[in-house]
Amino acid sequence: MFSSIAIAPSILSADFMNLQHDIDVLRCGGARYVHVDVMDGHFVPNLTMGVPLVKQLKKTSGMPLDVHLMVDNPLRQIPWFIDAGADIVTVHAEALSEKGELDKAISLIVDMGAYPSVAIKPKTPVSVIENVIERLHMVLVMSVEPGFSGQSYIEGSEDKVAEVVAMACKAGVSPLIEVDGGIGVKTAPLVCARGADVLVAGNAVCAASDPASAIAEITAVAEQARTSALENS
Ligand code: DX5
Ligand code: ZN
Repeated sequence: MFSSIAIAPSILSADFMNLQHDIDVLRCGGARYVHVDVMDGHFVPNLTMGVPLVKQLKKTSGMPLDVHLMVDNPLRQIPWFIDAGADIVTVHAEALSEKGELDKAISLIVDMGAYPSVAIKPKTPVSVIENVIERLHMVLVMSVEPGFSGQSYIEGSEDKVAEVVAMACKAGVSPLIEVDGGIGVKTAPLVCARGADVLVAGNAVCAASDPASAIAEITAVAEQARTSALENS
């Protein structure tokens, strides 16, 4: 938290028939990661992309792959995606709610050489990551119900970011804090003022007429909000 703000465009909103072109535009426009939304039609009511695409992205994207697993059985699928080239692997706490499962998933990700991250849905309390926060590279706060791009930001999600910051400070760690869902020029300042440092943006960037300008604008307003928040704290 509180490192320089990074934009992770979600390619769920990209033009799949011209994906390489879109990825090149995003990379040249300053995107820090490619956010890959993997949905299995069970954990969420939508089916998106999988291992073959991650393999291709690894070869040609030129950016670290931030793979967001919205799947029912992450313990089974984590190795598939790391073998395919995932750099950061985000698993949902809700899909690993049995005792010890979250720990097991984090160990698997780390042992296979990737960076572990845990996502929490809007109605999930931050306390579910309390016992594992020390082991996390990143925490993903969902600001929409996972499943679809283009939804509106759920008001108050920024309070959850602040809760993660407080928990991390108490634990003496500083994981990256990513926010995903409805992020754009209006909402990026809200979450960055509270400590978010990685912003997923689907519609606001990939569906913009000029994605590079959209990245620049979102980054600028987010950095400004964070600077003011730090000055006033
Ligand atoms: C939602 C996905 C998001 C989504 C973001 O389940 O995890 O990454 O694609 O899209 P926007 O920014 O349009 O809300
Ligand atoms: Zn996502």
